[in-house]
Amino acid sequence: MKRVVILASGTGTNAENIIKYFRNNDLIVVVHVLSNKKEAKVLDKATQLKVNSFSFNREFYKSNELLNWLKLNTDYIILAGFLWKIPTGIIESFPAKIINIHPALLPKYGGKGMYGMHVHNAVVNNKEKTSGITIHYVNENYDEGAIIFQKSFEVLVGDTAEDVAKKIHTLEQENFPKIIEKVILENG
Ligand code: GAR
Repeated sequence: MKRVVILASGTGTNAENIIKYFRNNDLIVVVHVLSNKKEAKVLDKATQLKVNSFSFNREFYKSNELLNWLKLNTDYIILAGFLWKIPTGIIESFPAKIINIHPALLPKYGGKGMYGMHVHNAVVNNKEKTSGITIHYVNENYDEGAIIFQKSFEVLVGDTAEDVAKKIHTLEQENFPKIIEKVILENG
């Protein structure tokens, strides 16, 4: 059985979808949801879905405490709207075992500060004809790890950032759990 820990900072629609997807899976189990924000909605979602969770502060994050906890408790780390950079120690200890979802077609619209509506506003303001999602491994630089999967859609004339956000949400819900499953089953 491969254990998965989800790191998330916000609402947690992806975390919820992933938890539900793997609920009756014999090979993969979501064991914990962790957040850097103690008031994040994702923690309430985890509680409702009967998945253990806790929040942590920067001190815990930067120290070896989180790393040691992860080494004991998980095989894979899934970033589902998690906004802090992953410390080097964690990246080195989990090679090709940390997976992030980004709401744009990387390498476009990635990097520090590029998350959520900031991305969709930039896409609309720049009159991009397409946008989409990227699922990728995490390395020491924001949004630069090897790409595992991308899916795009057309940005129509008149689409607002909210319209783009809705299309992203649909693609994330359809694809993220399936890609996580595929990676884990292929890589072990
Ligand atoms: C998702 O759209 C995810 O792609 C994005 O945050 C959102 C989290 O939504 N991640 C990033 O922007 C990472 N740079 P959720 O909390 O409802 O799952």
